Amino acid sequence: MKNLHNALKLKQLYMLKQLGYSYTDTVPSELEAESIDLPDSITKLAEAVRTCHLCELSKSRQKTVFGEGNENADILFVGEGPGATEDSTGRPFVGRAGEVLTKMIENVLHLPRTEVYITNIVKCRPPGNRVPTESEALSCRPFLQKQIALIKPRIIVSLGATAYHYLTNDNSPISRVRGTIIQGDGYQIIPTFHPSYLLRNPSAKKEAFADLLKVKALL
Ligand code: URA
Repeated sequence: MKNLHNALKLKQLYMLKQLGYSYTDTVPSELEAESIDLPDSITKLAEAVRTCHLCELSKSRQKTVFGEGNENADILFVGEGPGATEDSTGRPFVGRAGEVLTKMIENVLHLPRTEVYITNIVKCRPPGNRVPTESEALSCRPFLQKQIALIKPRIIVSLGATAYHYLTNDNSPISRVRGTIIQGDGYQIIPTFHPSYLLRNPSAKKEAFADLLKVKALL
């Protein structure tokens, strides 16, 4: 099935090349994503990400940012995509937004950051910190789905609109859905504001605080 799929895709790409295309921004279908065979260990999955060239972001990245934390964590935080500091270090949420996230984890959940797992929708930095395109996010989604399947978190905290959208396929504004509990496949999703938003809008911190208290209560 997978080979047939790949052969058809390759044929389509050769046709486009003959027509003069040097790049195509096709959006992978769910069927394609499901048929991608990914390793069953976090270390091997990180290696698959490190050598990934499925989208344009691979061309401009310095390092892939797979994610880090407790591989058996109850809580998984999902952000949008690496920024400049993350791109140069290969670690998620280590810049200014990362400081906010770390404080939220330590001061509200009363957990060390190493006790949770932290990752992003896309594993490579979008140039200029732009929002990842749909094609980039969907190309990367199988990696996130496999991370979720391996870590088996009880709660996923989605940080900001992009993470919420690609985890739920819902386009509702984050201001409306934040703090609600969404039933996922074996886990619950609690959306909250992105730490970068909290840096720009400190008055929203009290809502993010309330959302994390909900996470704590669910544990
Ligand atoms: N913003 C994100 O969404 N993710 C990071 O890793 C850093 C900043």
